[in-house]
Amino acid sequence: MKSLLFVRNISKSFWLEDNIIEVLKDISLEIDTAEFVAIMGKSGSGKSTLLSILAGLDVPDSGSVMLDEVDLTLLSEDELALKRQTDISFVFQSFHLIPTLSVAENIGFPLKLNGSFSQQKVDELLEKVALSHRKNSFPHQLSGGEKQRTAIARALITQPKILFADEPTGNLDEKNASSIMQLLINLQSEFNTALVVVTHDEAIARQANRTIHIVDGEI
Ligand SMILES: Nc1ncnc2c1ncn2[C@@H]1O[C@H](COP(=O)(O)OP(=O)(O)OP(=O)(O)O)[C@@H](O)[C@H]1O
Ligand SMILES: [Mg+2]
Repeated sequence: MKSLLFVRNISKSFWLEDNIIEVLKDISLEIDTAEFVAIMGKSGSGKSTLLSILAGLDVPDSGSVMLDEVDLTLLSEDELALKRQTDISFVFQSFHLIPTLSVAENIGFPLKLNGSFSQQKVDELLEKVALSHRKNSFPHQLSGGEKQRTAIARALITQPKILFADEPTGNLDEKNASSIMQLLINLQSEFNTALVVVTHDEAIARQANRTIHIVDGEI
């Protein structure tokens, strides 16, 4: 099977005062269509840095990230923004909802951006994440679990090829965390979306097709 995402020889360093820290050292990996991959590793091991580079939110010092024959590391900001409106989505630990928009407006926002808005699609996603009754609420009126369900619906409404999630349940209690994770897994298989999740939770990693461990910037 042909891989969806081809990552070759990624390196990334940061300057910390007078020292250079090598966070990612020559990382290569592949992710298949609709695959569910967990990324684990101790704090500071470079998980978020790697995820940001795979999603085109950050650029590596060297190496390539090929999504469908296109090298994300060579795209302009505008071209990357377009990719994020179509093929790539991201779910953050801290939700990143737009505070001035309602739940329904947050979910529909990516479609407004890419010019394919459909109220029916918004309503379908609202139903899938069990938030139809909260569609006119604003983010500050929601529980943590409801906020993350809104963010997941917003991430999937464009039917992306790949969804990245950086500790999506990190701000939730245990019960909410497991129901949010189950929702993500159910929707990724329904939408045929590849899912790459950074997590500290062994129970989540066990449900993945594959777990990638990062140790000292290497996998
Ligand atoms: N913009 C930056 N400038 C300087 N150093 C950075 C920057 N971003 C990350 N780092 C450093 O790179 C290393 C890896 O950070 P990263 O956030 O990728 O770790 P992580 O594995 O996601 O950790 P955690 O589990 O705590 O979220 C850390 O030492 C961090 O301080
Ligand atoms: Mg992190």
